[in-house]
Amino acid sequence: MGSPQESIDIRSLVSFIDLNPATEDFMTAVHDGLSKPQKQLPCKFFYDERGSQIFEQICNLDEYYPTRTEIGLLEDRLGEIVELVGRGAHLVELGSGASVKIRTLLSALPDLAQYTAIDISRDFLLQSAALLAQDYPDLDVAAVCADYTTNFQIPAPTNRRSSSTVVFFPGSTIGNFTPEDAKHFLERMAGILDQGSGLLIGVDLKKDPAILRAAYNDSKGVTADFNMNLLERINKELDADFDLDAFFHDAVYLEHHGRVEMRLISRKPQSVTIGRKTFDFEVGEHIHTENSHKFSLDEFRAICETAGFTTVESWADSESLFSVHYLTTL
Ligand code: AVI
Repeated sequence: MGSPQESIDIRSLVSFIDLNPATEDFMTAVHDGLSKPQKQLPCKFFYDERGSQIFEQICNLDEYYPTRTEIGLLEDRLGEIVELVGRGAHLVELGSGASVKIRTLLSALPDLAQYTAIDISRDFLLQSAALLAQDYPDLDVAAVCADYTTNFQIPAPTNRRSSSTVVFFPGSTIGNFTPEDAKHFLERMAGILDQGSGLLIGVDLKKDPAILRAAYNDSKGVTADFNMNLLERINKELDADFDLDAFFHDAVYLEHHGRVEMRLISRKPQSVTIGRKTFDFEVGEHIHTENSHKFSLDEFRAICETAGFTTVESWADSESLFSVHYLTTL
């Protein structure tokens, strides 16, 4: 028998709102992507349970500087961030995932009206929001299951009026959007937030391509597993016959696009059947699985200005690897 503490349903500590995000049909997305002249697969399908676990491992790799650099920046600038967010704010995290980085902020921000975690993956969201609520018993915690890349509203705090809303969007996830989608996303955010609301956003910076190549082709092969897991997932869920030994991972930095491209390359001429369709691959032909855009501070500020935000502060680490920006709506 568990102790009384263990028998508490920790999910009851969280207010849950399900906006029932539409799930894109995986089969259709895979068929469409592989039918294009340049074969591609949407990077959002990386994150099944195994993919999410491998991504956590990536975040702890020596070569993958973004996670530790962003956490270091948040810690170093905590005093300024606390000052900018102010008292009584509603703190909203987009794509909250394992809710690790938010803990740095929650430990320092006084008197929040509520913390709201927004994520598309319902179970993972509820689990991490519940753990957070358990660790911060004085904080009102809400979990919203929604696709923040589409039209959605941020629900108001359940128990208290907030002085302002501050959205936290860490990890340079914005770099995984196309430049047009990144601009549309920021425009949409500026549209749904009241004037003077904040956006605290992590953005990866342009740098020596050798550092980028190492970060996305790590020596332990974890990023390769992450990329290859997409083919394993297609085999498992879509009745497909990808021969996993007949593809390999590569990530290249394309200077003219300012982005890392993740690719899966065919080792030989081959055909792959997925459901009712068959796709042919030439030797050396690749599937493009992810873009990870890198910005200069000025480039990112310019995108924000055109999207309806003004930059209040931008912080970068001493090696200019990564940046965190505090923006407000105009
Ligand atoms: C989630 N996203 C910001 C990561 C990135 O760096 O673009 C995903 C990733 N892909 C390979 N490694 C990490």
